[in-house]
Amino acid sequence: MREFIVAANWKLHKTPDEAVHFLRDFIPALSGHWPDWARTVLIFPPTLLCHTVAEHLRPAASHEAWVLWGGQNCYAENEGAFTGENSPRVLKVLGAHSVLVGHSERRVLFHETDELLACKIKAAQDAGLAPMLCVGEQLEARQSGKAWELLRRQLKFGLQKADFNKPLYLAYEPVWAIGTGLVATPAQAQEAHAFIRSQIAELATSAVAERLPILYGGSVKPDNAQGLADQAEIDGFLVGGASLDPRSFLQIATVLKKSC
Ligand code: PGA
Repeated sequence: MREFIVAANWKLHKTPDEAVHFLRDFIPALSGHWPDWARTVLIFPPTLLCHTVAEHLRPAASHEAWVLWGGQNCYAENEGAFTGENSPRVLKVLGAHSVLVGHSERRVLFHETDELLACKIKAAQDAGLAPMLCVGEQLEARQSGKAWELLRRQLKFGLQKADFNKPLYLAYEPVWAIGTGLVATPAQAQEAHAFIRSQIAELATSAVAERLPILYGGSVKPDNAQGLADQAEIDGFLVGGASLDPRSFLQIATVLKKSC
């Protein structure tokens, strides 16, 4: 059985006070719903809020839901003359579990290449983090029938230095569905996830592909999360807009996953 993961990508939103308010609402509410089935809830705050989030998650009592956090980005080196960058090692020291790598906003707005992302995945794994590589096609690629080719390339080059024996996650985020309100249908998402898993079987082994969690991201909302979670190949969500409000994120974080 694969781990089911529901992750909040806060992007560049929230002040320290707003982050604390969110956690004060969300953690007790999640604890009230805390199910017996296996589930990981993760929060990716903006870098300047990592410390605040880490401090507020640490003292959670044992009866409370276990919520982990991660960075939204890191560099491929732990230290050096890299003004403005984040060290994977320092994220780990602060208590991070994961780090996003290759979100489409990093690829498009900050021109991050698959080669750089491959180095970031390696640095994150070396630092003891579980990187989450994000892949996904633009609308033109889907419309022109090039989506699979693009995903194949992103996986092949982005994972070229990955250690498949260490913790690793993937997120399928079709760019046309991010922040647009256009969600992939459960059947479209299921098909893409199955394709990604088949590629992992080629790049690594079928055993690796079988245990690797693949999250779906792109306009996930409380009213579409269950239909997506019902798909066998969907192992969780990476949620942007709907993760900013503790009530809507709670509804998504507590959807039922039949196999769990
Ligand atoms: P969205 O963002 O849920 O607002 O579409 C998802 C993401 O970018 O990770």
